[in-house]
This record gives sequence, C-alpha cells and structure tokens, in this order.
Amino acid sequence: MRKIITSAVTAMVLLSVHASANEADKKVEAKTEVAQKSLYDRLGGRANIEAVVFKLWEFVSQDKRINSYFGATDPKAFGGLLTDFLCVGAGGPCKYTGRSMKETHHGMQITDAHFNALAENTVKALDFYKVPEKEKNEVMGLLGSLKGDVVGQ
Ligand code: HEM
Repeated sequence: MRKIITSAVTAMVLLSVHASANEADKKVEAKTEVAQKSLYDRLGGRANIEAVVFKLWEFVSQDKRINSYFGATDPKAFGGLLTDFLCVGAGGPCKYTGRSMKETHHGMQITDAHFNALAENTVKALDFYKVPEKEKNEVMGLLGSLKGDVVGQ
C-alpha cells in the first residue's frame, strides 16, 4: 500500500514538474518572439519611418551646417528613397531603388562634421516621435555603419 502511495505521489510530482517546464518553455518562446521582431516592426512599419525621415528633412533644411548640400533636392523623391533605404536596413519588406551609398555620395566631400550634423538631426527627429532608446540606438548604429561609404568619398 505504501508503495502504491509513494508511486502515486512521485507521478504527481513528475507531472507538475513537467507542467511547469512547459510553462517555462512557453515563456522562453514568447521572449524569443519579442527578441526576433525586426527593427522595422518595432519602429511600427514604413509609415513611421517616413514620418521620421520628413521630420529629419525639416531639421536638415534649417541647419546651416549642411543645408547647402540639399539646395536642389526634391524632398519627396529624396524622402522616399531614404525611407526605403532605412526600411530595408531595418529588415522591412520595402524595395530600395536608389544608388549605393558610395556612389551617391561620391565627390560630395562630406566631412565628419557634416556626418555628425546629419546624425544629430536624425536623433532630434527620432526623439520628436519618441522612438524608444533601444530602437533609436539601432537606427543610429545602422547610420554609423555606413559612415565609411559617405564621408571622404
Ligand atoms: C549614413 C548616412 C547617410 C545615409 C544613409 C544617406 C542616404 C542617402 C540616400 C538613400 C540618398 C538617395 C540616393 C539616390 O539618390 O540614389 C542620398 C542622397 C544624398 N545625400 Fe545622403 N545619406 C547619408 C549621409 C549624408 C550626409 C552626411 C550628407 C551631407 C551632409 C548627405 C548628402 C546627400 C545628398 C546631397 C544627396 C543627393 C540628394 C539629391 O538627390 O538631391 N548624405 N543619401
């Protein structure tokens, strides 16, 4: 009799350990799902990236350190290209039809100071839309990774 009770208790304990292991698995799965969301998804899609880009355009056009670069630029066409470029860089389903960064900025004599001015304006635009710190750092990391193709070309 004692043996039967012991076995039953053991089985119950095993079952409950198994159940809580399943719960733990589910939690890990849920966490992984969040971690695997692309930057594009976490930014809220193309429309949100576009809003940041047009806010960036507003700041850049008022910034005397770099606005002379964009004197002849069509904001709609440039904004569309930059939006698609960032969208793709963030893992989104957009199609970028513009030129490579090296080719685009070739001969523009862009310096560190110009690049930093653009970066500063980008942070301002991201802050304007209250993009969280983590996503903001990822966007800035993406821009930073392209510096070598933009500066001194
Ligand atoms: C990582 C930083 C940068 C990125 C991702 C970027 C991205 C782009 C993109 C996607 C285009 C359009 C490409 C095309 O026309 O095919 C473009 C054009 C251009 N970029 Fe940049 N850019 C960066 C930094 C800069 C900086 C620092 C400057 C100068 C201060 C600059 C000046 C320009 C100009 C003048 C154009 C041409 C605009 C026009 O068509 O009139 N860019 N950039």
